[in-house]
Amino acid sequence: MAIEVTDSNQLAKLAAERIAEALIKAISAESAASLALAGGTTPRAAYEALAKIPGIDWSKVSVYFGDERAVPPTHPDSNFAMARAALFERVPLPASNIHRIVAEDPDQDAAARAYEALLPKRISVIVLGIGEDGHTASLFPGSAALDERTRRVLPVIGPKPPPQRLSITPPVIESAALCIMIANGTGKAEPVRRALKDPLDIHLTPSGLARNGLWLLDHAAAALLE
Ligand code: 6PG
Repeated sequence: MAIEVTDSNQLAKLAAERIAEALIKAISAESAASLALAGGTTPRAAYEALAKIPGIDWSKVSVYFGDERAVPPTHPDSNFAMARAALFERVPLPASNIHRIVAEDPDQDAAARAYEALLPKRISVIVLGIGEDGHTASLFPGSAALDERTRRVLPVIGPKPPPQRLSITPPVIESAALCIMIANGTGKAEPVRRALKDPLDIHLTPSGLARNGLWLLDHAAAALLE
């Protein structure tokens, strides 16, 4: 586990730098890198900052998503729509390198299985966020998906609207080369503390799945760690 704490207005830049470093390292070691993006609001500024960082050979980066809401890719709730505006439209990333979760498919299980088939065995960098309830991706406290050890993508119903989603499962997070958790604000302080300081209980705090990753926090989100 590594934790870096910074001012709120520096968090996006720090996250972008750490994501870029990890991608460049993976490309140098393996001639390719895979990047799974989080949705929500926190990472948007980091993606915009990442788009400004030179030296990333985007032709060698394959992009995935940690979760997606069951909405079309043009919907304001779509994680893909956010990433497209914040990152994809700003870097020379080939469209064929972008792997969107087709979460609007009425057959959610088929969509999950189709996406699972695309996922690399070991993702180079998974960007994650944390909910005030401790969830990450769309793995919410108490969810049966937290016990999944075979499927790598599952349809879930969560308390955070919109409820119907597709999410990566614990084995995907656990097998990642690096998880980068980005969190800001006082509302995340308690789940961050639970995820990093309490005995691991992923059913209570699913974000604990990323406890061995790199946690990038502003002072408010880190307030209960010191
Ligand atoms: C989603 C995200 C989710 C998010 C957290 C934090 O699709 O909702 O993947 O896991 O990272 O809910 O969301 P905020 O960044 O908006 O606080």
